[in-house]
Parts: sequence; structure tokens; C-alpha cells
Amino acid sequence: MAAVDSFYLLYREIARSCNCYMEALALVGAWYTARKSITVICDFYSLIRLHFIPRLGSRADLIKQYGRWAVVSGATDGIGKAYAEELASRGLNIILISRNEEKLQVVAKDIADTYKVETDIIVADFSSGREIYLPIREALKDKDVGILAYLDHFSRALQYEYASKGIFVQSLIPFYVATSMTAPSNFLHRCSWLVPSPKVYAHHAVSTLGISKRTTGYWSHSIQFLFAQYMPEWLWVWGANILNRSLRKEALSCTA
Ligand SMILES: NC(=O)c1ccc[n+]([C@@H]2O[C@H](COP(=O)([O-])OP(=O)(O)OC[C@H]3O[C@@H](n4cnc5c(N)ncnc54)[C@H](OP(=O)(O)O)[C@@H]3O)[C@@H](O)[C@H]2O)c1
Repeated sequence: MAAVDSFYLLYREIARSCNCYMEALALVGAWYTARKSITVICDFYSLIRLHFIPRLGSRADLIKQYGRWAVVSGATDGIGKAYAEELASRGLNIILISRNEEKLQVVAKDIADTYKVETDIIVADFSSGREIYLPIREALKDKDVGILAYLDHFSRALQYEYASKGIFVQSLIPFYVATSMTAPSNFLHRCSWLVPSPKVYAHHAVSTLGISKRTTGYWSHSIQFLFAQYMPEWLWVWGANILNRSLRKEALSCTA
């Protein structure tokens, strides 16, 4: 009994002397929780502002905002093709770039006939080095180009540099889209709300032009992006690696 009493006394003494530390820790905890909650609320607000609100009103006039021509690379298939079609459906003339001239001509004609816009093609292989840029430059020199697509970091740098010249560079960072790249995976092609068709993806992504310089382009991709941000990096990299490896395995077994 005496031992219990003295333990209780000791505990009370320690608790009394620690009171101010406990209060300080509670304040830090409350500040951290409030900060995180505000971040989550802001992230969800920007998700709604970016992916849902623009779709409620009338569509933005992209020609007035950015000019008559848009350049789309990888434009004969998948996301690039759907993007070219979506931009053409908004009245923009399209310059299509990819490697295969025949495919380019077919897609360019198809877009021109369907959407009554002008199209032009540039045959270029982006894996072949600097020599492709001179012909691209020549082909673009007299065109009023307002929309371009590039890689993430580069895009952001270009956006800052060229925004004042009326060129809008948006960095698109999609998660999975149901193109030929993901075709071997039955799993990915079954979840259409997680893995949209290129047409649905491009329709959503184009409506984010002018609102965001850097976006996943699709609402459910933005939710996945938010979750990825709140997870430890090793965890989502591990998950993504498993998915990508199984996709690669399925693709290789299809070609074998
Ligand atoms: N699908 C997804 O889930 C997903 C997710 C995140 C990021 N991405 C990225 O988004 C891009 C498009 O993906 P996708 O699924 O739409 O691919 P896709 O359906 O295979 O289409 C690729 C397009 O790029 C062209 N292309 C390929 N290599 C080229 C090169 N070296 N130079 C010029 N053009 C080239 C192809 O045409 P030609 O063969 O005629 O050249 C085709 O028009 C890729 O960079 C991909 O990594 C895709």
C-alpha cells in the first residue's frame, strides 16, 4: 500500500511539473491538425473548382484566349489523338506531330472533316535528337500557336517564360488512361471511373485549360494524386511499381 501511495505521489509530482510541457505539446498538435485540415479543405476546394465548376457554365472560348492553332504531339493515338479531337471540337486548328506519316494524314483528315477545322502535320520522331526541331520550327513559324503540351518540369518553366506572350503551356500529369499503353491490363480497363477512355479524359482535361498550369486533367486522377500526396512516398511508389510491373508482364505476354 505504501508503495502504491508513493507511486501515486510521484506521478502527481511529475504530472504537475510536466503540465506546461503537455500544454505546449497540445498546442503544437492542435496547430498541426488545423494546418493539415486547412490543406485538405483547400485541396478538395481546388479539385471542385478545377474539375466540376468549369463544366457547369458555358465552355471557354479557347480561340479568343489562346489563338487559332494548337500543337499536339503523339497525336495519332491515345491521349494525344483524343486531345486533338477535343481541341478541334472547340474550333481550334490542329497541328499534329508523331512519327508515322500515313497515320498522321488519316487522323488529320478525319479531324478536318469532322470538326471543319484546318489541320497540318509534322512528321517527327522525338527520340531522334536535335535535328527534328528545325523542321518543327519551320512548320510553326507562321502559325498563331496558343496551346502546347510538354513534360512536367519543362512545361512549368515554359509557362512562366511564355505566359506574357499569350502562349499557354499546361503540364498534364495523368494517372492511367485506357489507351493502347494500358490495353493489356484487364484490371485497368474494367475500372472506367479510375481509368477513363482517352475521349473522356481529354474532354475533362481541356476544360481545365486556363484554370490550372499543372493538373492530372481528370477528377478521379486528382483524388488519387491527393491520396498519393498524403501517403509516405515509399508506399505509393511501391504500389505504383507493382501495378507497372504487372502491366509490363501482361504486355510482354501479349506480344510473345
Ligand atoms: N495511358 C496512360 O495511362 C498514361 C498515363 C500517364 C502518362 N502517359 C503518357 O502519355 C503519353 C501518351 O500515352 P498514350 O497512352 O496516349 O500512348 P499511345 O496510345 O501509345 O500513343 C502514343 C502516341 O505518340 C506517338 N509517338 C510514340 N513515340 C513517338 C516518338 N518517338 N516521337 C513522336 N511521336 C511518338 C504515337 O504515334 P506514332 O507511332 O505514329 O509515332 C502515338 O500517336 C505517353 O508519353 C505516356 O507515357 C500515359
